[in-house]
Amino acid sequence: MKGCFLVFEGPEGSGKSLQIERLAERLFAAGVPRTVTREPGGTAAAEAIRGVLLDRPELRLDGIAELLLFSAARRAHVEEVIRPALTRGEVVLCDRFELSTRVYQGSARGVHAETVEQVTRAATGGLLPELYLVLDVPVNVGLDRQGQDREDPGQLAFFGSAPDRIELEKRSFRERVREGYRELAAADERIVILDGSGTPDEVEARILAILQERLPGRFQAVNFPR
Ligand code: TYD
Repeated sequence: MKGCFLVFEGPEGSGKSLQIERLAERLFAAGVPRTVTREPGGTAAAEAIRGVLLDRPELRLDGIAELLLFSAARRAHVEEVIRPALTRGEVVLCDRFELSTRVYQGSARGVHAETVEQVTRAATGGLLPELYLVLDVPVNVGLDRQGQDREDPGQLAFFGSAPDRIELEKRSFRERVREGYRELAAADERIVILDGSGTPDEVEARILAILQERLPGRFQAVNFPR
């Protein structure tokens, strides 16, 4: 496959979506073909599964059930969207991928790492991104950015849409998510943790510096107009 697969990760409220949009605009301006997509989602089947996973907090699903559902959505997404775009030689910018499963269902919900790995491999056929960019923000910053109460994320502090089933989790869950990203990054050089605090311009500059350092063949040659 000739394309380049980049995944943005991080907790809720880390500003991933905005940074993906900005990078997509830069690639567009530079004439680089790209596909922008997100998990869970990206195909009709995956969006339907997303509805079950996120929009129905009253449904009882444990970590294993979540693992299987996120993986089913991922299977459709990889086969129908990601692999075809990579085969066309595009840069694929994806909001979350299997690292989210390792962190949320593995580190935070406690599903055994080997189980996560086996199911994930079946879903992806072993496909991994060139790089995971993890936007790290303190738990309070993520909650504030989402307008959720710091001590009880189920309560909306002052604004924002209704929290989904994962956002309803307690503060300790978010701490485990943050720690999970750090632990996995320490053992895997494809995972880069970067400071997601500060202004969007500051975070964007950090992202561009990492891309130019880590994927010079792809990103050094591209003139990134502002
Ligand atoms: P989403 O609404 O896409 O928000 P964001 O990515 O901006 O936080 O929510 C996706 C949620 O699903 C998020 O809370 C993380 C969770 N998730 C998992 O638990 N496991 C997974 O494998 C994936 C892809 C997401």
